[in-house]
Amino acid sequence: MKIAVVGGGSRCIYLMDLLETHTFTIVHPTIIAVADIDNNAPGLIKAKEDDIFTTTDYNDIFNLDDVDLIIELTGSMDIYNDILTKKNKSVRAMAHSTARLFWEISRVSNLQDMTTSKLRRAQEIYNIMTNHLIHEDVIVISPDHRVLDINKSLLKKTGLTRKEAIGKFCYEITHHQSHPCSGDHHPCPLVQVLKTGKPSQATHIHLDKEDNELHYSISCYPFIDHNKITGVIEVSKDITSDIKIQKAMMRQEKMVSIGRLSAGVAHEINNPLTTILTSSMLLQEDVEPDSHIYQELQTIANETLRCRKIVKSLLDFSRQTRPSKKSFNLNDIVRESFVLTRKQAAFNDITMENELSEKLPLINIDNDQIQQVLINLALNAIEATPPGGKVKLTTRYLSDIKMVEMEMKDTGSGISPEDLDKIFDPFFTTRENGTGLGLAITHGIIEQHGGTIEVQSSQKHGTSFFIRLPLKTENDHD
Ligand SMILES: Nc1ncnc2c1ncn2[C@@H]1O[C@H](COP(=O)(O)OP(=O)(O)OP(=O)(O)O)[C@@H](O)[C@H]1O
Ligand SMILES: [Mg+2]
Repeated sequence: MKIAVVGGGSRCIYLMDLLETHTFTIVHPTIIAVADIDNNAPGLIKAKEDDIFTTTDYNDIFNLDDVDLIIELTGSMDIYNDILTKKNKSVRAMAHSTARLFWEISRVSNLQDMTTSKLRRAQEIYNIMTNHLIHEDVIVISPDHRVLDINKSLLKKTGLTRKEAIGKFCYEITHHQSHPCSGDHHPCPLVQVLKTGKPSQATHIHLDKEDNELHYSISCYPFIDHNKITGVIEVSKDITSDIKIQKAMMRQEKMVSIGRLSAGVAHEINNPLTTILTSSMLLQEDVEPDSHIYQELQTIANETLRCRKIVKSLLDFSRQTRPSKKSFNLNDIVRESFVLTRKQAAFNDITMENELSEKLPLINIDNDQIQQVLINLALNAIEATPPGGKVKLTTRYLSDIKMVEMEMKDTGSGISPEDLDKIFDPFFTTRENGTGLGLAITHGIIEQHGGTIEVQSSQKHGTSFFIRLPLKTENDHD
């Protein structure tokens, strides 16, 4: 459809833009002529730029052959009537008022197009959040704490299907409890958002389907409709492994500095202790064994020996040298340690058992260091177990991760949850005569071997330490 426009003002520009940007499906309109008495009218200038025929006398339009439609955009009914009388019969004419009506209609449909595409985009974003985010958990919650929607990542952790989760309370799903979990020490970001109407952030401990603790960094954002909060979107990220790495790094730094300090102190104290010990023994030779002075000197000697034991532990701790590794069967070392600690166990009326896997591959380890580890763990287990209890040593091969595992299990007192985080810290002890270095040394040795040590403890049932050692580490040479 070929169009001639009479009137080159802003309406003409609007029409030209509309025809350029809009895709027409039934007719294909193009402007082939523009007329305006003002040579500088914007529509006329634009038409010239686009190589469209222009004129300052609209009568010229009637001489053009192929015009299908004349649109009058001057706003003057006289001009429109003049066009109607002069135009060829086959040419149609449209007044500015009719043109305006069509523009209104086209604007509405344009708006609808925009709304639909915006909706489609929003749906796409929502789809990504609920189905494709793998590192973040997303949950949409109503103001009464009910789950409105939940993403795949969080469903996987909770072990629920979307159908099971929707409608449940958020605290049932993430905290396994029957009441909201907000408190001074555990502020709920959802409650904060509902209170303030502003986004909120917090770190929480959630429980997975096996009740393992997971640390979460949570951000909540409100949905506001007509000044009312209609829901909250909660995006949370599991930062458990980041925290573990941070803790391990802190422990490492602490161990290094304590190690250095201990080495210096232990070295300086060792010599005077030896002098005290020999002097008290020499003095004992000059007095009667049943005298009061002899007994006091014996106390000095005993206490000095105890100090030397502590100093030796300190030196062991600070001397965490690189292991000198050879190929060993862990079972052999377990048997040796078993022999060394069994007497102590029998003395405390504790049964010691072992269950050693036949299929254990050889591993590259420092015999002395691993024996020290086993003795430390066994002595701790014996210390913690009441008479009549049991300490059991098990070895197994974890073929899927190519590691050898040793478990030291006791039926003792267990470790309280507050202490569980501290037991590997140097000098942490709950025992009257303990130095608190056994587990710190053990941890260092296992780390040097590229292995891991983990503990599970229940105050009713006892404690299990799990040590995993790789068959070989990257630094091992054949
Ligand atoms: N099997 C266990 N059962 C219960 N508590 C344990 C067990 N093993 C370790 N612990 C706790 O961990 C603490 C630290 O143990 P660690 O071996 O490092 O030091 P210690 O045994 O107290 O002293 P030492 O340096 O003489 O070994 C213990 O004091 C105890 O509270
Ligand atoms: Mg110990």
